[in-house]
Amino acid sequence: MSAADFYTRWAHLYDHVSRSIPGIAGLRRQTAHALDLELGDTVIEMGCGTGANLAFLREQVGPEGSVVGVDFSDGVLQRARTHVENEGWENVHLVRGDARSPPLGGADAVVATFVIGMFADPEQVVGEWCAFVGSGGNIALLNAARSSRWYGPLVNLPFRGFVLVSTPGKRRLDEPAHVLLDERVATGHAAVERRCERTVHDDGALGLVRLTAGRVL
Ligand SMILES: C[S@@+](CC[C@H](N)C(=O)[O-])C[C@H]1O[C@@H](n2cnc3c(N)ncnc32)[C@H](O)[C@@H]1O
Repeated sequence: MSAADFYTRWAHLYDHVSRSIPGIAGLRRQTAHALDLELGDTVIEMGCGTGANLAFLREQVGPEGSVVGVDFSDGVLQRARTHVENEGWENVHLVRGDARSPPLGGADAVVATFVIGMFADPEQVVGEWCAFVGSGGNIALLNAARSSRWYGPLVNLPFRGFVLVSTPGKRRLDEPAHVLLDERVATGHAAVERRCERTVHDDGALGLVRLTAGRVL
């Protein structure tokens, strides 16, 4: 099953989980805040899923700004659309497309949460996104990876299980899903670090979730 079909199939469950994990709303709000947006700005969310970040992004740009969510999965976009319609947000737009090369013009900021680990070449994708917003634009990544805190071994075990069941595609014994995820997340966040100034870092959820944001050089 392709990743797009996987998310379409599980859209209902994902919508619930993505909003209800303890502490997740605070991390999403913090990520939107880290984009350093101004009222009236345009922000693009890559791999927006069912839209759990849209309210926080809209808070930052106000009703006069624009929020655009891009995703390649019909099922999650449909759920996101329902939320947008129920809220009556006229400045939130949803577009079906490949987040690696967005089918859009530029924007003031790009955000991607729990997405970079799905790309084979996170470094290149971060490069595309930085070029997309241009120098002075902002970018923020929020992602889950194994915790390096002292109690890491305790929380990493259930985390590995979660990654295993929530990763689309075939299982590979030579490269377990959580190892690949760790590598890709580290590469993506390091790329933001290298390409940006005024970077901010934080982590939460027992060290399992990390945020890196900055202004593109
Ligand atoms: C783990 S979910 C995260 C959804 C949302 N960002 C959140 O924080 O809840 C990953 C999302 O990325 C989307 N996605 C993965 N690869 C993509 C691509 N190449 N283009 C567009 N969307 C993609 C999937 O369809 C899915 O909705």
